[in-house]
Amino acid sequence: MVSRRVILGAGDQTWDGWTVTQKEQLDLTDPGSFARFFGPELVGAFLCEHVWEHLTLEEGSAAARLCWRYLQPGGVLRVAVPDAHFPDAGYQRTVQVGGPGPADHPAAGHQIVYDARTFAEVFIQVGFEVTLLEYHDSSGQFHAQPWSVAHGPVYRSALLDHRNADYRAGRGPLGFASIILDARKPA
Ligand SMILES: C[S@@+](CC[C@H](N)C(=O)[O-])C[C@H]1O[C@@H](n2cnc3c(N)ncnc32)[C@H](O)[C@@H]1O
Repeated sequence: MVSRRVILGAGDQTWDGWTVTQKEQLDLTDPGSFARFFGPELVGAFLCEHVWEHLTLEEGSAAARLCWRYLQPGGVLRVAVPDAHFPDAGYQRTVQVGGPGPADHPAAGHQIVYDARTFAEVFIQVGFEVTLLEYHDSSGQFHAQPWSVAHGPVYRSALLDHRNADYRAGRGPLGFASIILDARKPA
């Protein structure tokens, strides 16, 4: 049987071949919701874009353990969050803890702004093998390595985001950035 691939905190996102779930079905802070949804099932992959920043550091660590519990050996959690080292003042105002504006703004519930090192550590501590796919280092330098959309599309990426069209064409800097990493449960 083909193993399922599941989007966590999907919002409006839908991708072919992926089971869409919302917080009401799979709450990263509620192990019971995973037990009810999955029972004994283990999944092949999780995809989670711009959700982990809505959890505290402690909740984020517990959520990493929860995903580990429901991943098959060799399975991958692909996860993206805002990047504390993206050198753009407007972006940093938007992604800051608490968000910039009204309670219904997408960033309103931000609990933390990770950099690549602190975010990778959340998953390394659980036992995942971590590969950083896109991130800025502490001097604001962008790093990316080729990654496959087929293994989990992240929209807010250098590869896909409409705000990065000039960057892709070699005409300008990134317009929007994320830390994107793969956390692989060893086989
Ligand atoms: C900024 S939206 C991102 C939605 C979508 N992933 C995307 O990239 O467009 C944040 C999402 O995180 C979800 N979320 C917040 N806390 C969550 C939790 N504890 N468990 C699962 N999802 C959560 C919200 O319901 C919301 O859909």
